[in-house]
Amino acid sequence: MELSTLIDKLEDLVKLDVDASSSYSQAIDDITDPSIRRHLERYQQDHEEHIIALSDEIERFGGTRPSHTPSITGFFITGFTAIRSAMGLEGALRAMEMNEHITNRKYEDAASEGFPPEIHSLITKHLDDERRHLAYIQRVLRERLWEQSA
Ligand SMILES: [Fe+2]
Ligand SMILES: [Fe+2]
Repeated sequence: MELSTLIDKLEDLVKLDVDASSSYSQAIDDITDPSIRRHLERYQQDHEEHIIALSDEIERFGGTRPSHTPSITGFFITGFTAIRSAMGLEGALRAMEMNEHITNRKYEDAASEGFPPEIHSLITKHLDDERRHLAYIQRVLRERLWEQSA
């Protein structure tokens, strides 16, 4: 993989995680259940850690640290989250489920690209986090966990 391609691809992942993090910020406001909220705050922190780790790699390969600004696609993801959040806790969770489908797909794609081994293992680690995020949100929706703690 060419260096410029590698940096471009890492920048795309940073944008994805910036968007994911900002969509968590919006959704968390609507999550009144303390346990679910704690999980989502932890997951947002994971995304922030992804941003830092990927940005470190970009710098290490001679690129510029990306800015922490939501992108155009981020507008759609977070805009969608805001709309769904108007529907309360369940709507916010459905929006986050959809957002996590996007992060899972993008990280799965990235894991199958020919990255150097140390970047590949970082991406695989992030993919594990994304899978955990999606699985938890799906379980909360399936079991309607907020009703049990209410
Ligand atoms: Fe992430
Ligand atoms: Fe995630």
